[in-house]
Amino acid sequence: APAHLKIAVVPGDGIGPEVVAEAEKVLDAVTSAAGVTVEKREFGIGAEHWLETGETLTEETLEELRAYDAILFGAVGAAPGDQRVPSGILERDILLKLRFSLDHYVNLRPSKLYPGTTSPLADPGAIDFVVVREGTEGPYAGNGGRLRAGTDAEIATEVSLNTAYGVRRLVRYAFELAAKRERKKLTLVHKHNVLVNAGRLYARLVEEIGAEFPQVVVDYLHVDAATIFLTTDPARFDVIVTDNLFGDILTDLAGAVTGGIGLAPAGNINADRTAPSMFEPVHGSAPDIAGQQKANPVAAILATAMMLDHLGHPDLAARIEAAVEKDLAEHGTEDRSTAQVGDGILAQLA
Ligand code: NAI
Ligand code: MG
Repeated sequence: APAHLKIAVVPGDGIGPEVVAEAEKVLDAVTSAAGVTVEKREFGIGAEHWLETGETLTEETLEELRAYDAILFGAVGAAPGDQRVPSGILERDILLKLRFSLDHYVNLRPSKLYPGTTSPLADPGAIDFVVVREGTEGPYAGNGGRLRAGTDAEIATEVSLNTAYGVRRLVRYAFELAAKRERKKLTLVHKHNVLVNAGRLYARLVEEIGAEFPQVVVDYLHVDAATIFLTTDPARFDVIVTDNLFGDILTDLAGAVTGGIGLAPAGNINADRTAPSMFEPVHGSAPDIAGQQKANPVAAILATAMMLDHLGHPDLAARIEAAVEKDLAEHGTEDRSTAQVGDGILAQLA
């Protein structure tokens, strides 16, 4: 495992800097205990930075980011209704630009129901699954446009783009992950009865690559049925592999059934390792609670564990997860400040 890590840190806006500060504490503690040195550099990217400089994410910054092993990201975004920041600019020019430029073709979102946390479901069962969502294709590929905009004859298109290359690398990642997990089950979620072309491509490649993983049990659900099972029996899932749009929606649902936004981490992964992957909490900048030490840092801390796992330190990732689990079991989601939760997790690590 690498003894030296170069991490780009993007705290961002709102609660981003508050939760990232706790994630950094935990990162520093586990790595220094293991004799791993971490070189960090902070990058000012986000709404605040845009307001100050008029820059979103410059080509120069993007090139600088490429020199890092991974990016630890807080959240970017102004308060909804803040007229100074035009809608969509940060999503398009920062979040999507990072994802496409750094080829983050796997969006990885684990969902686990931790002890001490409450699911809104009456009988949730043991929830522990991972959604492997495509990150660079599908309806989000930017293949579309408008004609006769603003008239009664307006035409608007978003073409879902699916390549054998893109689906194959995604599906391979999902099988490799499923093979490493205890239950070794993979569920393809699509809508191949209606979206027959993309659906067929996904189904064909799941079958083809699945042949290399006889130990993995393969299942299929249409996306509408998947929303039913995610609420009635989420424990049935292990690894879900799905397209960009379906994955976006299912992971929000998954986050909700496992006790909330403050706990859910995500990885934007370039599994070919041609560019740094990025790890972040699923939540945004939460302007309504920013600057008050009210944010739960667990999502950011679990994202740090995912980052260490990706960087070849699964043992350190497991230590963080165990510490989070113990802290949650003891304190649940009781009222503690952001820093108190971080310190509680640090204490469990010691
Ligand atoms: P949000 O996730 O920031 O907040 C939604 C609700 O959840 C709020 O009530 C908030 O207080 C609460 N919440 C979020 N994180 C929490 C935490 N760690 N602990 C406790 N409560 C938490 O979503 P919202 O309000 O839709 O977006 C706010 C801004 O964040 C917008 O500008 C949006 O564009 C941006 N955003 C950025 C993302 C990113 O950087 N990847 C992702 C999602 C939203
Ligand atoms: Mg979303």
